[in-house]
Amino acid sequence: MSKELQWGGRFKEAPDLELIAFGSSLDEDLVLAPFDVACSQAHVAALLGGGILSQAQATELNAALNTVAREVAAGAFAGFARAGTFEDVHGAIDARVREITDAGESLHAGRSRNDQVATTLLLYARDRAARGRASCAGIAKRALARAREELAAGTVVAGTTHWQPAQPVLLAFWLGALAEMFARGARRFARVEDDAARFCPLGSGALSGSSLRLDRAAAAAALGFEAPSRNAMDAIGTRDVALDLAHACVRAVVDASRASEEFVMWCTPAFGYARLGDSASTGSSLMPQKRNPDPFELVRSQAAALNGTYAGAVGTTAGIALSYHRDLQTTKALAIGVVEKGLASLRAFARAFDALAFDRERMAARAGDGYTVATDLADALIAGGESARDAHATIGRAVAEAEANGTPLHPTFDAEASVRAKKTVGSTSPAAVAAALDSLEKELITFGDSA
Ligand code: ARG
Repeated sequence: MSKELQWGGRFKEAPDLELIAFGSSLDEDLVLAPFDVACSQAHVAALLGGGILSQAQATELNAALNTVAREVAAGAFAGFARAGTFEDVHGAIDARVREITDAGESLHAGRSRNDQVATTLLLYARDRAARGRASCAGIAKRALARAREELAAGTVVAGTTHWQPAQPVLLAFWLGALAEMFARGARRFARVEDDAARFCPLGSGALSGSSLRLDRAAAAAALGFEAPSRNAMDAIGTRDVALDLAHACVRAVVDASRASEEFVMWCTPAFGYARLGDSASTGSSLMPQKRNPDPFELVRSQAAALNGTYAGAVGTTAGIALSYHRDLQTTKALAIGVVEKGLASLRAFARAFDALAFDRERMAARAGDGYTVATDLADALIAGGESARDAHATIGRAVAEAEANGTPLHPTFDAEASVRAKKTVGSTSPAAVAAALDSLEKELITFGDSA
């Protein structure tokens, strides 16, 4: 029996190493190492609580696992794991523990990699969901702070639909929209965090529980779960929380992508609304004059790429029966990939956003272009008693005339007058924007600090 594989007693021939390599998830699941150590220590508590391990064995095992934790933190463990023929990080940690202490031979009592993987993945999800929540809250807070600056400055910009000039808005209103979007993202991550702390799969064994008296409550409590899972087969066979986390990541990166698309446009000379600082811009190897907003473009591309990977991860679960099937290893690897790349994309977006400077004068100068005040003029006619249809037609004709003569639609009613004229809650009027920002700020406090 190979020292590195966790099975083999019933086999007579050696494994095909190419198939072992094909089946290895080590590259993707090494990131789970710190969480496996915590999970393994909780299993030691369950074994001790059930009288399966002696106190001396438990002490030995915990010391060995602490050594592994230090090796993981120092980066040394990855070298050990990569040098071996391991199926996954769990097998590598088990082997290292057995190398450190003879007590290691008893660590896997009553445990399957199935409940181990499921538990480890939930601990990972809890940690990464907290990071995602903090990242989204951080972006929302940045947007909110900048909205307050622009509200004070009174910056107006042409709001568009279909990318066509629509109605003037305050830049603070646009930034408030960005903040709302990321507040929703933070809330989405917070829900995943809660789900990842409910039921602890550890002690579920391969699929049906254990004939050993494992102290499952002790393990669940040690890992900060509410309770042991209620159904062993479901506990080892679900990847719901990992998929929800990947989903939250994809959604947040899609939101960042939408903002990125707008920033890319704003940074073109044709728009001239914004300038991305040197720290976040890149040049061309050929054209000396170039400054490109690459981080925003890369975030935009990640939204598409991660969405595809996420769809793949969900897809791997569709055709498999309840309980564990090896397909779930692919689900796990894909979900982890989405999470790691998604969180990196959010951090990159936040940094690039910090490096973005707005050109208030340029925005204001163009806010009235394209007759963006037309709706307010029609509203004024309606307020004076005209029907909506007549008012629309009257101002429509005025637009055609102004366009033909190259004159403004109204001598004094400009973009600033337009935003001040708005009267509804949630509108772009300065008072409504100030109220919305205050309300959102209160909500954001509950999402903790930025990462
Ligand atoms: N590497 C596997 C995974 O990540 C571990 C579980 C293996 N279990 C099994 N019954 N073969 O899914």
